Amino acid sequence: MTKIKNICCIGAGYVGGPTMAVIAQKCPGIKVTVVDINAERIQQWQTDDLPIYEPGLLEVVKEARGRNLFFSTDIDKGIREAEMIFMSVNTPTKTYGVGKGRAADLKFVELSARKIAEVSTTDKIVVEKSTLPVRTAQSIKAILSEQTRDVKFQVLSNPEFLAEGTAINDLHAPDRVLIGGDQTPEGLAAIDALTEIYACWVHPEKIIQTRLWSSELSKLAANAFLAQRISSINSISALCEITGADVDEVAYAIGTDTRIGPKFLKASVGFGGSCFQKDILNLVYLCEYFGLPEVAAYWEQVVVMNDYQKRRFAQNIIQELFNTVSGKKICLLGWAFKKDTNDTRESAAIYVTDHLLNDLAQVSVYDPQVPTRAMYADMNYLQTRSAAENEQLLDVHKDPYEAAKGAHAIAVITEWDEFRTYDWQRIYDNMEKPAFLFDGRNLLDHKMLREIGFRVKAIGKGEE
Ligand code: UDX
Ligand code: ADP
Repeated sequence: MTKIKNICCIGAGYVGGPTMAVIAQKCPGIKVTVVDINAERIQQWQTDDLPIYEPGLLEVVKEARGRNLFFSTDIDKGIREAEMIFMSVNTPTKTYGVGKGRAADLKFVELSARKIAEVSTTDKIVVEKSTLPVRTAQSIKAILSEQTRDVKFQVLSNPEFLAEGTAINDLHAPDRVLIGGDQTPEGLAAIDALTEIYACWVHPEKIIQTRLWSSELSKLAANAFLAQRISSINSISALCEITGADVDEVAYAIGTDTRIGPKFLKASVGFGGSCFQKDILNLVYLCEYFGLPEVAAYWEQVVVMNDYQKRRFAQNIIQELFNTVSGKKICLLGWAFKKDTNDTRESAAIYVTDHLLNDLAQVSVYDPQVPTRAMYADMNYLQTRSAAENEQLLDVHKDPYEAAKGAHAIAVITEWDEFRTYDWQRIYDNMEKPAFLFDGRNLLDHKMLREIGFRVKAIGKGEE
């Protein structure tokens, strides 16, 4: 079996960075080099001001950086020196051409595979780490087999199951590690080589070995099942609001059934993040491609429900504010797609803001971690209105009390813990009256807020 001494990871993002930091921390005998085309990102990884906010990450990076963890823009050298190469590049949903809006855009994966084929002079194990459609390994294999030198490649699928905000804990103590590969002697040897790396800190029983395509499909299926639970409880939240039931009570009551379980039943303004929507759309595209329209429609509904939930939240705000928000200041607390991350990909905040700006609201935002330029970039990416209009209608504040000053309503989008500890009386005193609070996370103490004078509307809570 190949003994791995050098690992290279292509892509220093939310997946590649933390994953490689933990591998380097737990396997001090292996040299881990993370490479990226983005020089600014690589530079940030070399400082204590990391490009991604993730609790506990800096400590892990500091332990291994310079010892056996390195960040570099020299992609060729990184590839050439490694026996094992992880591909952790981004795979967004296609925004053009065939499969637009559904299929994964594999151009970054393809470019990386071509680069590996071009510069490799020794045998390599190539590990898919990005979320990819089933059978991507096939394309990677095809590209790698085109090189003319006598270099042999094995392709493995090793999907990442970490959730942002809890990445370090998820990496240190995963529910399982999944490794898929060809069921040939060379494929099985490659699976064993990667298994040995994880075995430095993960119990062997938690390392699942499968064929390649089972592993690829498991990642899409796991995310589809998780997102489905959120859309299911969010669909019930709409019914609760009309009937007077309380969605948190319903979630608790059904979650105590051990067959259902309590996790991922928190009703919200809608799920976000780089994975759920993308992976479901990917699954939908695959099903359509393979002639299974009913299966495609079944899974697509999870995304349809999520879009409905975001739209419903924004429409509720407009309706409660006497059917017009034109010129009214609405304060959003939180822009990240969940707490403890600075990632905003597919965040509900973007879509809620878009709806409110369509009705000419003045939106002011506070988020403890998201940089201002990321918020404007998110809005400009939608192309609903010009950058100048976004700048005019959207205000970003570094202080939550300033963001809420003079607002007609506050909308809680992200479940940041610090929102609970604010001086809500002070916030109320500085708002326009009646002061509305829309809790998109059911995060705050609604009884206390009502006693202060807020008109509180919460997800899945009927009139009390
Ligand atoms: C997810 C998967 O959990 C992870 O295994 C996979 O590797 C990548 O995709 P992530 O997107 O980082 O991870 O975060 P996650 O905690 O799953 O949350 C996704 C979204 O769902 C967030 O917007 C979150 O706020 C929302 N959510 C989650 C709910 O609205 N309700 C819940 O009960 C749980
Ligand atoms: P993820 O959440 O999947 O980690 P990110 O966007 O955070 O996604 O990270 C992906 C990283 O991959 C980015 O930093 C990007 O610059 C990098 N990347 C994309 N294509 C290439 C490539 N061909 N070579 C090297 N790095 C790449």
